[in-house]
Amino acid sequence: MCGIVGYVGSKNGIEAVFNGLIRLEYRGYDSVGVAFKDKNKIKTVKSHGRIKKNDVVPGMPNLEEKLKEDEKFKFNSNIVIGHTRWATHGAPSEKNAHPHVSMKGNFAIVHNGIIENYLTLKNELINKGYKFESETDSEVLAHLIEYFYENDILSAVKKALTKLEGAYSFLVLSEAEDVIVGAKKGSPLCLGLGEKEFIISSDESPFIDRTKKVIYINDGELILIEKNKYNIINFEGLNVEREIEEVPYDLEAITKGGYDHFMLKEIHEQPTTIKNAFISRIDHLDTMLRDNFPKLPRNINRVIYLACGTSLCAGKVGMYITEKYAKIPSRAEYASEFIYRDPVIFEKDICIALSQSGETADTKEALKIVKEKNAYIAGLVNVVGSQIARIAGKGMYLHAGPEIGVASTKAFTSQVVAINMFNMLLIDDIKYREKLIDELKKLPDLAEQIIRGTEPKIKVIAPEISKFSDFLYLGRDINYPVALEGALKMKEIAYLHAEGYSSGEMKHGPIALIDKNLLTVCILTGEKEIYKKTLNNLLEIKARSGRVFVLTDDVQAIKDHLSDEDYIIEVPKTLPQLSPIINVIPLQLLAYYTAKHLKREIDKPRNLAKSVTVE
Ligand code: M6R
Repeated sequence: MCGIVGYVGSKNGIEAVFNGLIRLEYRGYDSVGVAFKDKNKIKTVKSHGRIKKNDVVPGMPNLEEKLKEDEKFKFNSNIVIGHTRWATHGAPSEKNAHPHVSMKGNFAIVHNGIIENYLTLKNELINKGYKFESETDSEVLAHLIEYFYENDILSAVKKALTKLEGAYSFLVLSEAEDVIVGAKKGSPLCLGLGEKEFIISSDESPFIDRTKKVIYINDGELILIEKNKYNIINFEGLNVEREIEEVPYDLEAITKGGYDHFMLKEIHEQPTTIKNAFISRIDHLDTMLRDNFPKLPRNINRVIYLACGTSLCAGKVGMYITEKYAKIPSRAEYASEFIYRDPVIFEKDICIALSQSGETADTKEALKIVKEKNAYIAGLVNVVGSQIARIAGKGMYLHAGPEIGVASTKAFTSQVVAINMFNMLLIDDIKYREKLIDELKKLPDLAEQIIRGTEPKIKVIAPEISKFSDFLYLGRDINYPVALEGALKMKEIAYLHAEGYSSGEMKHGPIALIDKNLLTVCILTGEKEIYKKTLNNLLEIKARSGRVFVLTDDVQAIKDHLSDEDYIIEVPKTLPQLSPIINVIPLQLLAYYTAKHLKREIDKPRNLAKSVTVE
């Protein structure tokens, strides 16, 4: 996710911001830039690529060389803002990199978050004569502030705020005043109070080596930073007194947001990332979905989801949704198998590639094959501008932010949201859409609730869970891919043998494995008939003295069948097609805390790579 940093003080601000940006690298970025005052004019230096020149192959763009190549530039300024961009709206490029400058060049902004109503604002500004240089949502902010400006930057920002919808934190640099103005709603922002200097940033990492004194800006607050003072004001214009705190952790802890591992941080980000996958889209469904999937054929023959690993589990969820609700034949294929069997593809087939990284070699090759066969292709991808996104040329970005833990978590839940959004296009039923949208809106809170409700319990039982040597994850219908994903998580980070199985298939073989060393993890939620059938499978295990860990949205129905030796986790009810998003979260936590108890290398499990770029 983007990182912002700003400097006001008596030292070399460019150096401070440059080093601050390096500290923000862990958030992931594809382009970078700074803006500063140079002889009372705003100057920007931006680069697609890395921050430091040593991080790139010779000849590749980087901010460091660009800063130094300007002979007039003395590598010094006392008021500076900077940004690392993780593309959401518009491809990674120098043009889309921040800071964005207003049309007359009087203001520069850096922004973290998403301005949901940017299209409306952009059209309003275009009608007023503003010209846009980038494809980003953020650029509206620079023009809006310029539009409202009447010799006072703070009032202009306040007026701009009344127009904005979405989550954001941003910093503004003004040509006419020696200040930085910051605002926060939803995205993080904090101020480091150093020796004759202030550094404001997305987290404490840019200033932790200079000062430990920090002020956390709250949602709905603005901050005006001048050379020797700062002033916090709320959006209603009232002054706010805020205590100065001491940064309680070290640099490593900050980059992980205070969590022990990136994986845990990413699990906890899901209420936000789930929201990011739909929030800016649901109000413009007809236009947005048709923009993202232009010329989608009528009379679709099949929908084929192509992916690997966790993304394939999401694709399998897609298969159930497409067949059951869109009534279109569908399948989800291991990309690695698909590419070697000369698949039969028809022109009216729709092939959707799913990938977090957008760089997985097998998925990329599978997509190329279906493209050559003239099928309709699209991507549901997290990394903007990645190879799969480019080959697909259309589809949806997940907006989940960088996923650093090798074990994929938040990408899965965002993919299932995106799959649901895509399937809405295929389902011509307004009632279906309305119901789904209502339930989608509740998901971020449900995700929060399930994390808060289950994490303490799972933490406590993890030492017992880690004593099992084998796990059988069972689920039926749309919960079958959730079982596969749960087992994959346990395998890859706890290094414990875990198999995902369709619960009905269990008695055709795996039932022979049931003994005291095997724990069956059973996902028991959803429609009555499915619940009933899966419950029968669970009873078959109990009848053989098997131990079970049950995830259920109906505790009453199961309670009497379990003993004190079993585990039960309650999950909230939602629509079956959204339930994988909720059901997977306790399974992520189960794998995480088991692996933690076993002292595994959670973020970088042995033998695994984050992006598998070889076939
Ligand atoms: O980047 P992708 O989604 O294309 O990656 C696909 C798989 O390599 C990935 O999901 C892998 O299975 C993860 N380690 C799962 O946690």
